[in-house]
Amino acid sequence: MSKPVVHALIPAAGQGQRFGGATLKQYLPIAGKPVLAHAIDAVNLYPQVSGITVIVAADDNMFDTLIDPDRSGVNTVVGGDSRAQSVLNGLQSICMEHPQTQWVLVHDAARPCVPAWCLEDLLEKGLCEADGAILAVPVRDTLKRTDAGGHITETVDRRQLWAAQTPQLFPIDRLRSALEAMLGEGESPTDEAEAMENSGAHPLLVMGSPANIKITWPEDMAVAEAWFAAKALAETGSGEGIGENMEDIAKDRKFRVGQGFDVHAFGAGDHVILCGERISHPFGLDAHSDGDVALHALCDALLGAAALGDIGRHFPPGDAEYENADSRGLTRAVIKLLAGQGWRVNNADITLICEAPRIGPHVNAMIENVASDLGLENSCISIKATTTESLGFCGRKEGIAAMAIVSLVCDQAC
Ligand code: CTP
Ligand code: MG
Repeated sequence: MSKPVVHALIPAAGQGQRFGGATLKQYLPIAGKPVLAHAIDAVNLYPQVSGITVIVAADDNMFDTLIDPDRSGVNTVVGGDSRAQSVLNGLQSICMEHPQTQWVLVHDAARPCVPAWCLEDLLEKGLCEADGAILAVPVRDTLKRTDAGGHITETVDRRQLWAAQTPQLFPIDRLRSALEAMLGEGESPTDEAEAMENSGAHPLLVMGSPANIKITWPEDMAVAEAWFAAKALAETGSGEGIGENMEDIAKDRKFRVGQGFDVHAFGAGDHVILCGERISHPFGLDAHSDGDVALHALCDALLGAAALGDIGRHFPPGDAEYENADSRGLTRAVIKLLAGQGWRVNNADITLICEAPRIGPHVNAMIENVASDLGLENSCISIKATTTESLGFCGRKEGIAAMAIVSLVCDQAC
């Protein structure tokens, strides 16, 4: 089957009234080039995008000087009074100049930070949808409705509410007739999806990114600049990981948390082993392995985050191989298992619950052990302890409990 022909359309004919200032926001520099150039470059990455049309205002005198006019495949068309009219002018021109176009990818000039993975997802999913698709993010703040005086009248249920972003991807003929119909009725949709909805379509929402902000007010420039700075740091190696983490966190499917909990009873012995540290104590911990309750909780948290079951499934308690097993070895085996599936640990936080022995004096050595087994800096590991104020089995000094929580990030498609 031949690949669908996609043309990108970038409306840049707005006057930036909310932003203000002498220079139009789409021409202000961020990370060394104009906001609009970032938007063009973001869509230009994709081989499926066969051409790019930018809509400029009738009196625009900056496009030719600030945006390289030799960018391959970039045409300009004059916009209209509203965003919808600007987009319609662009669609009409594309239909005339590039009649083989089947799909149009509409992106705002004012959204320079759209991450590449958002565009990949949108193209992959949207091209399979008859009604097209748009990027959107779930509304994060509690929503209030007010009366004319600014007093709250209602808290709006936000559970099914999303904030629409661009790019938005639609079959070009359907978007064109949907926009012509709405503008013909004197209505002006604020995004393309609204016109499609008005024509009875139900476009798909594809998860966007909080990074994909629309530069609207002057303060937004600092946010966009910080995003590019973090990305550049990650790419050049200095400030390692900062940008990557931001992208990982933004793309929630690549970020996981897991929790673990374990208990061992005191029995005969003269020491306990906690987070790999041997600590003298009048009792030992009953266990098939070395009884390192903290590392067992940690392993369960790691396996839980990757949805890979629990420690008992991978290292069965009855199995002779694990008799007196060194739990640090088990932890490293878990890390290897996770790494095989693309997961790396971001951080771990362990809490030991016991009246005795005292954990404080051993915490630094424990952190060293765990950081080394997880392949992380010490600063990514937290180990702390609490008593239960003499209450319950821990309080009666019958045993030790441990809880762990970890976060994982994925380095490949999971
Ligand atoms: N746009 C356009 N033609 C218009 C109005 C807007 O091409 N008549 C474009 C803007 O240049 C921008 C995108 O639509 O890339 C999103 O619009 P918005 O962020 O609202 O930008 P402005 O309309 O320029 O800003 P404001 O609403 O504050 O005036
Ligand atoms: Mg506007």
